Amino acid sequence: MTMTRKIRKAVLPVAGLGTRFLPATKAVPKEMLTVVDKPVVQYVVEEAMAAGIEHFVFVTGRNKTVIEDHFDIQVELEATLRERGKTVELKSLEDMLPKAGATSFTRQQAPLGLGHAVWCARDIVGDEPFALLLPDMVMRDKVGCLSGMVELYNKVGGNIVAVSECDPELAHKYGIVGKGEELDGGFRITGMVEKPAKGTAPSNFYINGRYILQPKIFEILSKQERGAGNEIQVTDAMLKLADEQPFSAYAFGGQTYDCGSKEGFILANVAFALDREDIKPLVADGLRHLIAGA
Ligand code: G1P
Repeated sequence: MTMTRKIRKAVLPVAGLGTRFLPATKAVPKEMLTVVDKPVVQYVVEEAMAAGIEHFVFVTGRNKTVIEDHFDIQVELEATLRERGKTVELKSLEDMLPKAGATSFTRQQAPLGLGHAVWCARDIVGDEPFALLLPDMVMRDKVGCLSGMVELYNKVGGNIVAVSECDPELAHKYGIVGKGEELDGGFRITGMVEKPAKGTAPSNFYINGRYILQPKIFEILSKQERGAGNEIQVTDAMLKLADEQPFSAYAFGGQTYDCGSKEGFILANVAFALDREDIKPLVADGLRHLIAGA
């Protein structure tokens, strides 16, 4: 069995401006937009909690303080719920709350790319492997995506990226990996490319926004080299890291919703609404009528 250090910390980059969702995101961070009745970022934190993450490092920016408030106690609200006997609502607040001292917030300061955001977490993460979760991407599956990755990591060690399959027409929007030797639950990666030009992607396996990375990545990112879109890219740093350390892909079997796009966000709302027994009948009925009349 490969010796692996436990993945205790997760980095969540939440500094993006959310321009694709204006005017909704003028005063509300895009990570706080709701899928059914939970903010997008809460789905991602819950996925990380289920995978055993103990500390959450948010890389934030200006106008993001409500994210910090969301993951804190709201004394008056909780007292009112308790007084009114609203135990279900109270429990829903308690279940999502990271433990005291289990969150850190640091600011990216300048929008220099995802790789730069990750690098901003270097001191808080320190010298240990960590998870990286992009809150735009919301996963739907019985076993959380990160839990499946941790299972693979415990077998093969090294670095892991989760991949989903996309329509080849959409490959230019993502980081794409090349497929090598099969593993139980995934495969070895032969290469990676960030936002390949149309028609040049090595496969249709795209990096879906979940990573397990060794701390060496910070050293590579500190060189601050620019890549696609003139931004400091995690994918480029991973490609360099792959020269010296194993990289594997975890083939995620569930659905990935890109909530950074309007279509993905709307589909996530529909899918998670249909998962909820309390609202499913009316939503399903309404959707059937809408589609029949479309
Ligand atoms: C980032 C990553 C990309 C990945 C994508 C998933 O791109 O750089 O490799 O496929 O997230 O959402 P971004 O969405 O920040 O352009």
